[in-house]
Amino acid sequence: MWILGEPEMEKLMREYNDFIKGVAVFPLNIPGTSYWKALKSREKILEIFKRKVEERKRINGDENLRMERDDLLNWLMKNTTNGFEEIGDTLLHTLFGGHDTTSRAICLLLYFLDGCPKAIQQLREEHLQVVKIKEDRGESNKLNWDDFKAMEFTKCVINETLRLGNIAGFLHKKARTEIEFKGYVIPQGCTVITHLSAVHLDPNLFENPNHFDPWRWMGLISDVYKMKNFMPFGGGPRQCPGAELARMEMMVFVHHLLLNYSWELAEPDHPITLPFIEFPKGLPVKIQPVPHK
Ligand code: HEM
Repeated sequence: MWILGEPEMEKLMREYNDFIKGVAVFPLNIPGTSYWKALKSREKILEIFKRKVEERKRINGDENLRMERDDLLNWLMKNTTNGFEEIGDTLLHTLFGGHDTTSRAICLLLYFLDGCPKAIQQLREEHLQVVKIKEDRGESNKLNWDDFKAMEFTKCVINETLRLGNIAGFLHKKARTEIEFKGYVIPQGCTVITHLSAVHLDPNLFENPNHFDPWRWMGLISDVYKMKNFMPFGGGPRQCPGAELARMEMMVFVHHLLLNYSWELAEPDHPITLPFIEFPKGLPVKIQPVPHK
């Protein structure tokens, strides 16, 4: 749909970066503020999406160009009932939900692993083992869902990164009706902030909670989806639809990194919450190709 380096893609990235800077700021809509700039960028992003929708309509209407595209845009164009407003909003939400989250999770993964060589060693053994099994079976070396399911320790590392990293540290929820919870009455319309990181870093729930310890998840992997004290992707009807995609992206990244490269942090850096997780220096990493066979 978009190709990196294309002028329109570059424009989309520029506008998106301005948009994101205004997502969690004081909503002061006067010229020059981050909020004002974010609203302007949102309009420009929606214009870009609109042009794509028009282009797709032309392609879909032209027999020579048409091909069944099983992608989000075609799905939205077929299934939404509220026209472009709904399509544009969904595309922007998906971009917002999927863009900075997984990339930040991968940065955190590198950061935590840097301090845990034992985990790197165990991960590498697991990934070499998967490659060997695939070779022995004469299968393609491309990773698939079954490989992911078999990678128990990788899943432990991913869970621990999500727990300690807290990409989404808190969520805003709104009480749609008045509810009573543990003796507290929450009136209809009230915003409730669910502080996920307070749960993930609670010493009553996780021993030594500030320590990166992927082994704490051993034997618990199949319970992770039912756990009420581990919700990196939220919960309920608005639970993150990209959760498994994000886990998969992290696994694929780790696989290629571990089997083909060695890396070290180029200079000390650490994550801070502003309110999204950031590395003040951008987590510079020195990386070298080394096939680990
Ligand atoms: C490590 C990566 C990710 C984390 C930690 C994360 C976390 C979250 C959280 C906590 C929520 C709010 C859930 C709630 O309100 O209960 C959410 C919502 C959402 N996420 Fe993710 N997410 C990640 C990756 C992705 C990806 C890759 C996509 C899509 C490509 C995505 C798309 C969305 C969307 C569209 C929503 C809004 C869902 C709704 O309101 O119905 N996320 N995510």
